[in-house]
Amino acid sequence: MSWKATVVTLFPDMFPGPLGQSLAGRALENGVWECRTEDLREHGLGRHRAVDDTPFGGGAGMVIRPDVADAALAATAAEANIPCVYLTPRGRPLTQADVRRYAAGPGVMLLCGRFEGVDERFLQARGVEQVSIGDYVLSGGETAALVLLDACVRLLPGVMGSELSGVEESFSDGLLEYPHYTRPAVWEGHEVPEVLLSGNHAAIAQWRQAKAEETTRERRPDLWSAWLARKNGNRAAAVGGAAQADLGV
Ligand code: 6GU
Repeated sequence: MSWKATVVTLFPDMFPGPLGQSLAGRALENGVWECRTEDLREHGLGRHRAVDDTPFGGGAGMVIRPDVADAALAATAAEANIPCVYLTPRGRPLTQADVRRYAAGPGVMLLCGRFEGVDERFLQARGVEQVSIGDYVLSGGETAALVLLDACVRLLPGVMGSELSGVEESFSDGLLEYPHYTRPAVWEGHEVPEVLLSGNHAAIAQWRQAKAEETTRERRPDLWSAWLARKNGNRAAAVGGAAQADLGV
């Protein structure tokens, strides 16, 4: 049983796009996952197959109609309990935890918006999750959907092979990853950090941990605070446990 991505979009030709190449492309050929599209335009109304209309309350842009969005969703005949995700800059930020949850299930249904958005009643009535991939504005949800799918597909069994890199990288423990170096040992006069050439695995692990912490503190104060809180919380829990043991509880 392959992991199934179903994408509702006005631009079905954008899929699988770049995910037809490299690791994800091979997994697609091998049937590890499937990428289906549902053309929103086919569910449009009238001679012009209109999918959108002007916003109630006035203002710029157009809004995708709830009846049209729902007809497209119904046509996909996706499994009832599959997560349905609308890609929008108004969504909550996509995290690796979301990606792990999606990848662990049977697949995802993705709705790609264009124009100003999709009628809110449809999103609420159908329990659609609203997700953003970052604080910038894309011209549509399709490239965001490709990002989400890339992140999921690499976690599917067999896609990454036996590579450790899928586990031991940025975000897996809440820190950004340490920096990497390879040959030549001196490049344009710049040397590789000496410890990495030492063969001392404990010292290397310690250096990498320190670099991961330093990089996170400098670049991502949000992640750094969360990591510190977790670390201190765990210590408090451990101390609490010891105190309980002392009390004979
Ligand atoms: Cl999911 N869609 C669009 N259109 N823009 C975005 C986004 C999504 N995430 C960040 N910017």
